[in-house]
Order: sequence, then structure tokens, then C-alpha cells
Amino acid sequence: MEAQKKRIFSGIQPSGDLTLGSYMGAIRNWVALQDEYDCLYCIVDMHAITVRQVPADLRRRSLEQLAQYIACGLDPEKNIMFIQSHVPQHAELSWVLGCYTQFGELSRMTQFKDKARKHADNITAGLFTYPVLMAADILLYQADLVPVGEDQKQHVELCRDIAGRFNGVYSETFTLPEPFIPKVGARIMSLTNPASKMSKSDPDGCVYMMDKPEDILRKFKRAVTDCETAVRFDPEQKPGVSNLLSIYCAATGKTIAEAEADFDGQGYGVFKPAVGEAVVELMRPIREEATRLLADKAYLEGIYREGARRAQQLAEKTLRKVYKKVGFVAR
Ligand code: TRP
Repeated sequence: MEAQKKRIFSGIQPSGDLTLGSYMGAIRNWVALQDEYDCLYCIVDMHAITVRQVPADLRRRSLEQLAQYIACGLDPEKNIMFIQSHVPQHAELSWVLGCYTQFGELSRMTQFKDKARKHADNITAGLFTYPVLMAADILLYQADLVPVGEDQKQHVELCRDIAGRFNGVYSETFTLPEPFIPKVGARIMSLTNPASKMSKSDPDGCVYMMDKPEDILRKFKRAVTDCETAVRFDPEQKPGVSNLLSIYCAATGKTIAEAEADFDGQGYGVFKPAVGEAVVELMRPIREEATRLLADKAYLEGIYREGARRAQQLAEKTLRKVYKKVGFVAR
């Protein structure tokens, strides 16, 4: 029954091109959730400008991201897919929530500390209050579950704290959301540095969803392994090979044991291109469909406009309640 479905909210920043990691770690899970839950999937462009963006790139990537969401199998009828800046209630609620968030809480966010270190010449108020905007994203829709990677767990916990505090002062207003970290979600590491997560800002270590087959193959052939020859899963001793095995399994649906057996007695010269081929085949239909959709701007426009309209209806309900509770005069 529709009314009993739990609600899910998640989003990705269009701050870089989507990668194999975005697909295996996030979007593929979103697709698996779309029947059982009532889902909103957002392109969080307002979060992206917390660090400097090239305007034309941001615009291109936002549209491309929508096309890729759909190409990955997210159904625009089942899910509400929209662009954050198209729903002004995000900014409005964010202001209110900022008044219920402590400076000290935001100062403790590890992502802020990391990013402030990386962008030491541009530590803006927006970078600092970013988790408040994220809380607004989630609370506007009364989301029960928020699928995120481990790195965002702290932000979802802060969101819960803010929601609980607001509810405590003004009576029940917000659903307390929970981070939803998929157990099987593959954590994909960089191909050049298997100690760190595959990042869209590291072109050689990462596979972009729109990469051409020959580029994908080249990156896998150059992937860092170790000086042994055995294809064996051992994240401690063999992080590079283990990452490639995880990718191979995520791409083919095989278990680690089956994958190890596939390459038993074969060296990395066979193994690495085989992983590359598996990824090429996984990404091919997605890239082709996304390319087809991107050629149809009117279709994409229809999807994001309808998404924003549906999102606004839900968001406005929550915002009205909040404005009333804090004592704003009704418009
Ligand atoms: N901060 C998230 C990230 O960088 C993106 C995001 C913004 C998000 N708002 C959200 C994720 C709301 C989940 C829910 O990955």
C-alpha cells in the first residue's frame, strides 16, 4: 500500500562526472530500493557551489547526472527526481535550521575539517553550513532513511540531532531519519591508489560512467597491483588486487571465490584486462542510454520540471508547519 511505504531521500553533488564508484556505491542501490520505498533522488547543485565551480560545467553535469540516473534504471515515474535549486524550500528551511544548529557542532564535522584544509584559500560560510542544507534536504520530505556512504554518516547524525532538538522545542515536526548504509554496497577504491576511495577528481584512478571503452580498458591495464602474481582476495596484503576482484564481482555478479577460481593460475596480464572488459560491458548500455537521453533536452526538461513540482508539494507542507511553529506571520 502506497501510504505505508517508507520514504527515502538521497542526492549526489554535480561537482564532478559520475564514476563507477557512484554507480556501484550509490545509484545501483537506489535502483534496488525504488519499488519498496517512496524515493526522492536529488541533484544537489546548491551543495556543489560550496567549492568553486565552472558555471558551464556545473550546468552540463547537472543535466548529465539526471540522464545518467535514468540510464542506470531509476524510473522517473516511480521516483521523484529533481534539481535542488529548483525547489526554493531547501534554502528556506536551511536558514531556519541554521538557527537551531550550534557553531561547535559544525566545527566538529570531519568533512568540513578535511575540505577546509584542501581549500584553505576559500573557506566560506557555505562550506561550514553545508550540513545544515543537507539536513533541510532530508527533513523537508520527512525521510525515514537516507542511503549514504560511510563518509556522510556524521552529517545524517547531525541532521537527527537538529530534528530532535527542533521537535523538543516545538513539538513533533520532523521524522528522525536514519542513515542507510547498504551492507553489500561495494566500496570501490582508486585504481592508482587502492588506499583511497575512487574519487571523481582523480582521472587516472577513476572510471567515469561516460568513459569510452578504450579508456576504461587502459585504466584497468594500468591499475596498481603488487609484486606477486596470484589473484587472491586479501585487502590487507593485496589492496589493489582485492579492489579489482570486488569490482569484477560487482560487475559480473560472481562471488569472490568464483572470481578467484576464474583466474586461478593466471597472472595479472590476463586478470586486469578481464576486469576492464567486465566493466566496459556493465557501463556500455548506461553510457549509450545516457547519450541518447542527453540529445533530447525537451524530455529531460519535462522530467526535472515535473520532479521539482512534485517535490515542492511535499516540501511546502513541511515548511509551512515550521514557519508557523517558529512564529512567522502567515503569508
Ligand atoms: N553531502 C552528500 C555528499 O556529498 C550529498 C547530499 C546532499 C546528500 N544532501 C543530501 C546525501 C541529502 C543524502 C541526503 O555525498
